[in-house]
Order: sequence, then structure tokens, then C-alpha cells
Amino acid sequence: MSKQDKIKQLIDLRAEAKLGGGEKKIETQHRKGKMTARERIEILLDEGSFEEYDMFVTHRCTNFGMEKKKVLGDGVVTGSGTIDGRVVYIYSQDFTVFGGSLSEPFAKKICKVMDMAMKVGAPVIGINDSGGARIQEGVTSLAGYADIFQRNIMASGVIPQISAIFGPCAGGAVYSPALTDFVMMTENTSYMFVTGPKVVKTVTGEDITTEDLGGANVHASKSGVSHFLLEDEEEGLLLIRKLLSYLPQNNLEEPPVTECNDPIDRLDDALNDIIPESPNQPYDIKDIIYSMVDNSEFLEVHRHYAKNIVVGFAKFDGMPVGIVANQPNFLAGVLDIDASRKAARFVRFCDAFNVPILTLVDVPGFLPGSSQEYGGIIIHGAKLMFAYGEATVPKVTITLRKSYGGAHDVMSSKQLRGDINYAWPSAEIAVMGAAGAVEVLYGRELAAIEDAEERAKFAAEKEADYKEKFANPYQAASMGYIDDVIEPRNSRFRIIRAFEMLQTKKDTNPPKKHSNIPL
Ligand code: HXC
Repeated sequence: MSKQDKIKQLIDLRAEAKLGGGEKKIETQHRKGKMTARERIEILLDEGSFEEYDMFVTHRCTNFGMEKKKVLGDGVVTGSGTIDGRVVYIYSQDFTVFGGSLSEPFAKKICKVMDMAMKVGAPVIGINDSGGARIQEGVTSLAGYADIFQRNIMASGVIPQISAIFGPCAGGAVYSPALTDFVMMTENTSYMFVTGPKVVKTVTGEDITTEDLGGANVHASKSGVSHFLLEDEEEGLLLIRKLLSYLPQNNLEEPPVTECNDPIDRLDDALNDIIPESPNQPYDIKDIIYSMVDNSEFLEVHRHYAKNIVVGFAKFDGMPVGIVANQPNFLAGVLDIDASRKAARFVRFCDAFNVPILTLVDVPGFLPGSSQEYGGIIIHGAKLMFAYGEATVPKVTITLRKSYGGAHDVMSSKQLRGDINYAWPSAEIAVMGAAGAVEVLYGRELAAIEDAEERAKFAAEKEADYKEKFANPYQAASMGYIDDVIEPRNSRFRIIRAFEMLQTKKDTNPPKKHSNIPL
């Protein structure tokens, strides 16, 4: 073969690999409203930055006549590239090749980019669109999955790992995304479940559709497995770019600070008025978040799950910050099992990747009742407490209104190593709300008053006394639990100053193999 022929051979092989399963399969993929593995990479990465590896890898399976069916690349496109100029590693499963099913060399390709990402200290993005283990291969594909799982575990807390689910993801395959930091799913074209509807029907008799069992809506709102619900793939790919803009490349780096054109001392008079007169009246915590952060930009995580707590990323004077905030607009912002798990995971992510945490508190307490107790609210609530208490990143807390009981302690209180704890004048920091306290303190007296009107009057007087004493931030401030009571409209400035001051904060935990967080 001449030199020219050899070069032509290379060009032809590359063209062949780029076609994956071929034109027909690509057409089918498009007909389903899905992009190909390569189209996805093109949108995700900076233009022209993709460096592909292992394009010539093929499977070695000889069962079921597989030796005659080889496709260059073997169903997954892997490599590195950049997002906003920063290196990322990527693998993108190609459904047009054996349904994106995972073979031994397929798994090795994924492991190779994960190993590279760990060496370089750069995020890994996995795009999932696969029929699962390659059935013709048998047990080697199971081992391949386990090799990936082990790498997901080792990379956890070292480099950010993001999973996009743009097609099927079933059986044990779901556990790789589950081990990563963020999962996103497209509506109508993706699903995740441990066992599909047919097996469910056989085993339990339950009749359920794919969508109802493991569709994007289910995992965004009911299970919390997915952090982001996407209308389409393009939205997801752009979201990955946005998400990474708040994150460092690895756990040894600081999050990237960008220039900020939003004045740091911008006052918002509306905040002085935003807390309703009645403590039982709700308001939208997101109005407050949008008002405080740079350019009203807030990337909410888990938007549809446990809406009684809001978590997400924003910037303050260009510095990335993770925000955790009770949401009075939903279940009065109470802490329940789902909210505790959601916030705990977010706090731990931020701490692992050096993202400072702002906590906005308006919490009436933990949700009472047998279903919460039977579900283990004690353990789940403890997760959030553990996460805050363990976190060594800068922690700034503002109590806006209610901060009662155990929930007060949990929500980044001073005693859980809160660095700066501010309160608005509307804050009520107490063991419990006034009505509950009067019931406990004056139960016998109340029971002795026969006339209902008299009883209500007595209770109202005692509640007023209690509120006078505790429905304010000053008792906590007098003890030093609150560092300062601040004017709401000036919150942005005070938050920025606090985080600037805390930039060089150093705090540590005692040496140990690992903690034993109440799982
Ligand atoms: C080999 C597979 C495959 C698989 C799909 N294909 N899944 N080949 N191994 N796991 C092939 C099909 O034979 C077909 O090949 C092509 O991919 C496209 O598949 P279709 O069925 O035509 O596509 P569609 O109708 O969209 O259905 C997609 C699907 C279905 C729902 C994913 O293919 C399916 O049910 N696949 C099997 C899923 C499964 O049970 N996997 C094992 C799960 S257990 P041709 O040549 O006809 O185009 C598992 C364990 C992991 O994964 C354990 C980890 C610890």
C-alpha cells in the first residue's frame, strides 16, 4: 500500500467510524426525537475542541455470529474537549450501534476516559442512551459495568461527574448515573428503572407504563433520582455547560470567579416589605434569592422535588455560591424526609467542591406525623444536620422569619459551625411557635376555662407575651448566636462582604477513615 493509500485508508476508516450504526439507524434515532452520540458532543463542547480516543476499538465477541458484526468504536464515543476553555472528559453512548449496549471493550473505553479525568483533575460527563449489558457477551459486560461503578465511587468528591440520560437506562446500568453528582433526563425520550414494566407485571402483577415507572417526570418529582427535567437534549447539553460554570475542575481547586457587572451595594427596598405581617402567610423565597444574587441568575437544582426546600447555584460578586433556602410557599417550608435528603446531598456536594454555602432560613420545624416517623425522619433529618456540621466551606446564614426547634439547629446554625449568622428584624428564633408553646405551658389552665371565648382570650394574651419575648432575633443576638441583625434591603451587600472576608477560611475535621453519616 502506498503512503497515499494508507492516508486514504485512515480517512475512510474515520468516516466509517463516524457513521456508527449507519444512515438507517441514524434516521431511526432522529425519528425518535433523539440526536446521535456525536451530534450531542458537538453541541456540548467548545467548537472544534473534541479529541476522540479509541475510534478503532471493536468487540471480541464470537457468540451468536457476532464476529461478523463489528462496528468501529463499538457503540460509545469517548474523548476529551473543552467547555468555556476548561478541559472535560466525555463518553457518549451510541444507540445506533447494538442499541448502545455495553460490551467489555465499550466499558474499557469509558474507564479509560474516567482514569484520564482523574489524572488530569477534570470533570467527566456521561451521556447515556443504551439497552444495557450486551446480551451476546454474557458476564463480561457485567464486569465492565462494575469497573465503571468502582471508578464512579473513587471519583466521587474528587472530580465533578454529570450524567445525562437521553434514552433507555435500565437494570444495573442505572447505578452509574446514581453514583454521579448530577443526573438529568429528557421528557418522553428517556427512562431509568431497575426492572422494566414487563418484569414488574410478572413479579408483582402491577400494570404500569414505561413513563409512569421511570420517566423523566417521575424521577424529577417523585424519586428525586434526577436533578434536572429537560424538554429536549439541547436544553440538557447547554445546562451542563452552565452547571460547570459554577464548579471547580476538581476538589483541590476553587470555583471559577468571573467578572461581575451587578453593583455589590445594590439595595432592594422591596425586601424590607417582603415578609408578610402574618407569620402564617406564605411568600416565594425565590423572589428573595433572585433579588440578592448577581443579575438575578439562579440555577435551581431539584426544582420539582421536595419543593419545601430550594437548592441551587448562583454568584455573588462573581463568586459561585450554593444556596439552600426553606420555601414558605410549599408546605410552609417545613423540613420533611425528602427535603432533608435533598438539601443534605447538596450541602455535601458544595463542601466536597469548595463551593461556599448561603442558607436562608424560614422553617417552622420538622413535619410531624406517623408517616414521617415510620419513614425515618429522625435519620433523614440527621443527614442534613450532619452535612452542615461536617462542612468546612464558608457558611453564611440569614434567618428571615421562623427558625424553630431542632430545625433551627439544623439550618446552618452558629453551633454547627456557621461562620456568619445574620437575621432580619422579622426573625423569630424560638423553641417552637407561639400557639404550640402556649398549649404546652398553659395546658392545664386552658382546660380549666369552660367558656370558649374566655379560653381563646387567655390563649391570645399568653401568645402575645410569648411573641414579645421570643418572636424576634434579639434574644439569639444577645447570646451571640446571631452575629448581627441586618436590614433586609442591604442583604446582598452584607452577604458579599461576609463571603469575601471568609475567602481564606480554614477549618478541618479530625482525621478518620471516613465519617458514618446516618444513611
Ligand atoms: C444487545 C441490544 C440490546 C442489548 C438493544 N439491542 N438492547 N443488543 N444487547 N442489551 C439491539 C437490538 O437487538 C436492536 O438490534 C438494536 O439494539 C435496537 O434495539 P430495538 O429493540 O430495535 O430498539 P427499541 O425498540 O428502541 O427498544 C430499545 C430497548 C430494547 C427498550 C432498550 O432494545 C430492549 O428492551 N433491550 C433489552 C434491554 C435489556 O433487557 N437489557 C439488559 C438489561 S440488564 P438490531 O440489530 O435489530 O437493530 C442489564 C444488566 C446490567 O443491563 C447490569 C449491570 C450491573
